[in-house]
Amino acid sequence: MSPKLRKFVDRLPIMEPLKPLQKSNRGLYYEMRMVEHRQKLHRDLPPTRLWGYNGQFPGPTIEVNRGEQAEVKWINNLPAKHLLPVDSSIHDLRDVPEVRTVTHLHGGETPWDSDGYPEAWFTNNFAETGPFFQREVYQYPNKQRATTLWYHDHAMGITRLNMYAGLAGLYIIRDNREKALGLPQGDYEIPLVIQDRTFNNDGSLFYPRQPDDADPELPDPSITPFFLGDTIVVNGKVWPYLEVEPRKYRFRILNASNTRSYQLYVDSEQSFYQIGSDGGLLPKTVRLQTIAIEPSERMDVILDFTNQKGNIVHLKNDLGPNADPADATSDIMQFRVRERLTKEDTSRLPRYLSRVHSLAEYPVTAVRYLTLNGSTDNYGRPLLLLDNKKWDDPITEKPRLDATEIWSFINVTNFTHPIHLHLIQFQILDRQPFDLDHYNETGHIKYTGPVVPPKPNERGWKDTAAVPSAEITRIIVRFTPFTGRYVWHCHILEHEDYDMMRPLLVTDSSKRKRIN
Ligand code: C2O
Ligand code: CU
Ligand code: CU
Repeated sequence: MSPKLRKFVDRLPIMEPLKPLQKSNRGLYYEMRMVEHRQKLHRDLPPTRLWGYNGQFPGPTIEVNRGEQAEVKWINNLPAKHLLPVDSSIHDLRDVPEVRTVTHLHGGETPWDSDGYPEAWFTNNFAETGPFFQREVYQYPNKQRATTLWYHDHAMGITRLNMYAGLAGLYIIRDNREKALGLPQGDYEIPLVIQDRTFNNDGSLFYPRQPDDADPELPDPSITPFFLGDTIVVNGKVWPYLEVEPRKYRFRILNASNTRSYQLYVDSEQSFYQIGSDGGLLPKTVRLQTIAIEPSERMDVILDFTNQKGNIVHLKNDLGPNADPADATSDIMQFRVRERLTKEDTSRLPRYLSRVHSLAEYPVTAVRYLTLNGSTDNYGRPLLLLDNKKWDDPITEKPRLDATEIWSFINVTNFTHPIHLHLIQFQILDRQPFDLDHYNETGHIKYTGPVVPPKPNERGWKDTAAVPSAEITRIIVRFTPFTGRYVWHCHILEHEDYDMMRPLLVTDSSKRKRIN
């Protein structure tokens, strides 16, 4: 358990935008160096040893305009020994260097050789590289619509540890269409990267060596089936506060936690006005009292403090009716609303935001039924799988370039899994509940309710979909614009590492007709 830390004593940091080292007609060129560093995460906590991009946690923000190509050289300058307990019993990690990294731009529409395939890892100064290593400098076309993306580590079998150590940051694409909407901007547009951590008394990060119910037969360290920290960190500070003016703000919210999902609300009983999700602006603004956010999802929201002059407002996390009152993760951060504006709020909150064409217009070439199911390994440890297959099983998801497919996720486990696909933003079609006990007894699906359309704030472009227990969640995906080797996985990092991740191979079609 973390030492008791006073809430709302540190100001919310805002990550600095990263300056390109070069700007040419080929686009922007950046370098990002992963290093071990120490950072003060709370007034009363000694500095924490972390791994950060350019020595920052979260990493500096990359900001680009749509259509402007960016190149990033991701450089590993990390020590040879991991900061956290590595379980080398999974994925045969005994045979590879302990500290490996590979960076993925989450939500980015990226050619596969720059996507950060888990086995495209590299060690300090590229001394050693994984079997799928492609290049040192990654290329990002940035042709997709304006949105909040994020970059993070994706190394095979240790993603949960590398990200918990601090390897994550934001990547924002802007475009003129969005600028023309007149949304709050500049000082009034604020990113909120929400994470949970547990600290030791000396300020170091705590991550379990073994699951709590470990028996001596288990490998030590052994992977945990999930991890929930007891302390909330926003933009790298524990339970921070932010002084705001009585006006509208735009918050780009990212859940960068390993396992934890949040039910966000504000205690002033105000509504959130959600304008965007993973892949950019929604068709229209959605008013919400509570926002559910799974790991890796982004929610772009407007909060209006105009009528809160002089008030203290908290961003909270609803832990539900059975919550332990001592659970401190019901608080996220604090807003201190000033009495006065520095200048008049001329920003707008439009009702209609963008056009999102429905993928259902395309002919569907395949429907895949994919279970999310539990199993156990040789040690009796929980092993969560996609379609009952492990990472190393032969590739089964091989859509053709430009094909439109429906993926039907059948969750027969007891919890929600946030399912993420690389390469392309997709759409959620619907969900339908079924009788899980009946399924477990007979292997048959008996529906217990009607087909439910996606929630209003899920009716835009998504790269991660909440797939609840005992429901079938259907998404529609058009596999474009690149062929190559990608992945799809659960974004609960402890699940992703063991073993809820599968390759995704987009193949070239010889008979391919060019539509555009
Ligand atoms: Cu956020 Cu495969 O990643
Ligand atoms: Cu991703
Ligand atoms: Cu999962």
